[in-house]
Amino acid sequence: MANQSIEHPPLKLLVTGGAGFIGSNFIHYWLAQYPQDSIVNLDLLTYAGNLANLTSVESLPNYQFIQGDICDPMVVDSAMTDVDIVVHFAAESHVDRSIMDPDTFLKTNVLGTHTLLQSGLKHNIKRFHHISTDEVFGTLELGRHDQFSETTAYDPRSPYSASKAGSDHLVRAYGETYGLPYSITNCSNNYGEYQFPEKLIALTITNLIEGKKAPVYGDGLQVRDWLYVKDHCRAIELVLLKGQDMTTYVVGGLTQDVSNLEVVKQIVKLMGLDESSIEYVTDRPGHDRCYSVNWSKIKNELGWQSSVNLEEGLKKTVDWYRAHPEWWQPLKEKNQVYFTKQYAGGIQE
Ligand code: NAD
Ligand code: TYD
Repeated sequence: MANQSIEHPPLKLLVTGGAGFIGSNFIHYWLAQYPQDSIVNLDLLTYAGNLANLTSVESLPNYQFIQGDICDPMVVDSAMTDVDIVVHFAAESHVDRSIMDPDTFLKTNVLGTHTLLQSGLKHNIKRFHHISTDEVFGTLELGRHDQFSETTAYDPRSPYSASKAGSDHLVRAYGETYGLPYSITNCSNNYGEYQFPEKLIALTITNLIEGKKAPVYGDGLQVRDWLYVKDHCRAIELVLLKGQDMTTYVVGGLTQDVSNLEVVKQIVKLMGLDESSIEYVTDRPGHDRCYSVNWSKIKNELGWQSSVNLEEGLKKTVDWYRAHPEWWQPLKEKNQVYFTKQYAGGIQE
């Protein structure tokens, strides 16, 4: 499920946050597609960064890992040496953690992005690609079937989405003001292998494997668009190699609204369980009701569309988590404090 590879002179990519979920999937994808290119992975290894995601590439001569903070100009400047393209994934990425502790979101997502932009400009890079989210657009009304697109006004409603919105604005400001060539993708909820088991799909699957319940916030009728992570990597590839500078694309995986409850029910069924495995828990404050994206621009301009539907993607994801308890069990154990605090509200009356 890769794109046909696109010819280009050898490139040096600086991938930030490459030890996280999407970044590590992207590194695997890119090095398999383009073994002539080289990748420097700059990652702080926060709770979400995990070098176990990258063991099969770590000894390749065209791959280098640097442990460091994107907010540190010295580290960033040194990582930027001879870089052609920056692919910027590094961020604090979980909405619930942003509600508990917004400070690091502002620092990493806004100031960290700014540090990278300054350095990218200084080093004359050919493209700064910023990975953003559909959450910057705020929330849609449930049942109206409206969709976000590249022209939707920003209206972020959580500390996470506000910090990502700030970073998007800075990227565009560096393009407009200083001429830094950039591209931005605002993608929907990703899922698939190597996702930290705090996000809905990974948490549901791993809880069910552990014999625990799947926690659904509120009434579970919230809608998200779901994008299989490898389809997302294919989209980024096309934007980097075929997309114009100074362009934004929204990227999504579905064409129909699917509620969280339906997603959880599908997983429960795939795992041979029944709905007694679902537990309705206290809702998230300011919970966005509905995200839905119109991804016709990337389809029409770059010929991208998702290739894995939700049913197939969930099956692949369930199979992967079942086969890799050694990957996710230690993460859940190490992050017990977070899980206990997050789910302390308990079952909803
Ligand atoms: P993740 O939380 O799994 O990984 C983030 C990575 O960034 C980790 O490896 C972490 O160590 C690293 N990092 C964090 N702070 C850093 C810092 N200060 N310096 C260097 N590295 C740092 O995130 P993800 O799910 O892979 O998301 C990647 C990007 O995609 C993020 O920018 C996120 O906002 C965006 N995004 C994610 C989703 C999704 O569903 N996961 C959807 C839309 C957009
Ligand atoms: P999440 O995976 O945290 O992604 P995001 O908040 O960025 O969309 O959550 C996806 C949806 O699932 C969101 O509507 C919140 C909901 N959710 C639950 O119902 N239960 C949970 O335990 C979690 C983590 C999320």
